[in-house]
Amino acid sequence: MRIVLLGAPGSGKGTQAALLKARLNIAHISTGELLRAAVAAGTPLGLQARAVMEKGNLVSDEVVLGMLEERLGLPDVASGFILDGYPRNEAQALALDGLLKRMQLPLDLVVQLDVPEASLLARLAGRAKAEGRADDSPEAVANRLHVYQQQTAPVLEYYARAGRLHRVAGEGSVDEILGRILALT
Ligand code: AP5
Ligand code: MG
Repeated sequence: MRIVLLGAPGSGKGTQAALLKARLNIAHISTGELLRAAVAAGTPLGLQARAVMEKGNLVSDEVVLGMLEERLGLPDVASGFILDGYPRNEAQALALDGLLKRMQLPLDLVVQLDVPEASLLARLAGRAKAEGRADDSPEAVANRLHVYQQQTAPVLEYYARAGRLHRVAGEGSVDEILGRILALT
């Protein structure tokens, strides 16, 4: 099973992807996690990405696509994957289609976790206190939500136009939401 999980910052992509990974025994590929690992390791890519991420802007398409391509080459991808945080603009959606076509790995499911902005803000404020992620400051969160509206909303339209988008209500208990996603698989 190959799944793309879309949704605004704080919509629960990481939470649900971890559960789907365990339930479906497939790889969880989060471009945000891959980038945070590169920042923590201080690699050249991480050094380049750090300031961009802290402001809540998107890292360049080229860098992220290269990273994704490398990750999709690992053996665990053979059993399937959940893509969390990619694609984030229309160019990335087109690049993903091309890449997966070349790799002969067609997508089975595209899901959008739909969560009202007030809940997103409350969740991210909660996580800022609990974990202190660098881009959970109020300024960075505001910019991440703006970037999502400007650049990622067209990705939803891209999949909707192709009749491939499934919207799932992203509020309620974590298990309820997982059940809604699993019902689509
Ligand atoms: P990324 O890591 O993808 O962050 P994000 O999209 O902003 O989303 P989050 O990880 O904050 O939220 P989430 O949807 O995973 O929700 P979570 O499960 O954590 O990207 C970070 C940055 O990396 C980007 O800004 C960009 O700079 C760069 N980047 C990444 N991908 C890129 C790309 N493709 N191109 C360019 N740049 C890229 O949940 C959030 C909180 O809510 C948690 O505290 C959780 O416990 C809680 N929660 C979860 N579910 C529920 C629930 N049902 N009820 C109540 N609380 C809940
Ligand atoms: Mg996440």
